[in-house]
Amino acid sequence: MSKPHAPSTATKHGVIPNPALQKENPSDFHPYIMIAVGSPRKKGNSATLAKQVAAGAGSAGGNVETFFLHDLNIKPCSACDGCRKKKHVDCVIQDDMQLLYPKLRSADAVVLASPIYWFTLSAQTKLFIDRWYGLGGDSGYALAGKKFGIVLAYADVDPFVSGAVNALHTLQDALGFIDAKIVGMVYGSATKAGEIKQNKDLMDEAFELGRKLV
Ligand SMILES: Cc1cc2nc3c(=O)[nH]c(=O)nc-3n(C[C@H](O)[C@H](O)[C@H](O)COP(=O)(O)O)c2cc1C
Repeated sequence: MSKPHAPSTATKHGVIPNPALQKENPSDFHPYIMIAVGSPRKKGNSATLAKQVAAGAGSAGGNVETFFLHDLNIKPCSACDGCRKKKHVDCVIQDDMQLLYPKLRSADAVVLASPIYWFTLSAQTKLFIDRWYGLGGDSGYALAGKKFGIVLAYADVDPFVSGAVNALHTLQDALGFIDAKIVGMVYGSATKAGEIKQNKDLMDEAFELGRKLV
């Protein structure tokens, strides 16, 4: 477990702190759950499921922060290997990942919520993951041992036809490679923004995933 977290006061960059924890003593320990939403639709289906994960985590005492990757300036990895040089802790690119690296390092659990675009993760989600390269080094990756939750939304009802299976395989491989632990995956089909709310079983699953991540 990382150090105890004070309830977040961040309001910029699409961050949503857990208001339930704002009045508590900052020394109270709450596992920190970082949620990254890779859809441009703030009320879309992956965001709706992510909100439900946040509600579950919050109900179990987690301190949750949600980041909308689409609102952030996240450049692609430039493969310069600057992050592998001793003087740099994280990536050398000065963009909004510099806000997210400390969050990733200190998170007890991370949730990735992505729509399926062209049979895999959205570009916003993939850019974010590529930049995790900056968290690696001789002693492995800073995300090793952390709990992960995965949320996916897609249009085609069949996860094979939709490409959701490709995204799941990618995440299994990537998270396995960095020695992170997948706690659960919640995925389902919907098209119109927020339509996924009608899938009560999936909403319950998302809430439960949040509880398990704490
Ligand atoms: C650019 C783009 C590409 C898409 N590609 C796929 C796809 O390959 N497979 C699929 O099932 N749905 C695809 N969809 C549909 C979305 O995955 C679906 O509407 C999903 O619910 C969107 O999630 P969101 O509301 O979180 O953005 C695509 C949508 C867009 C805008």
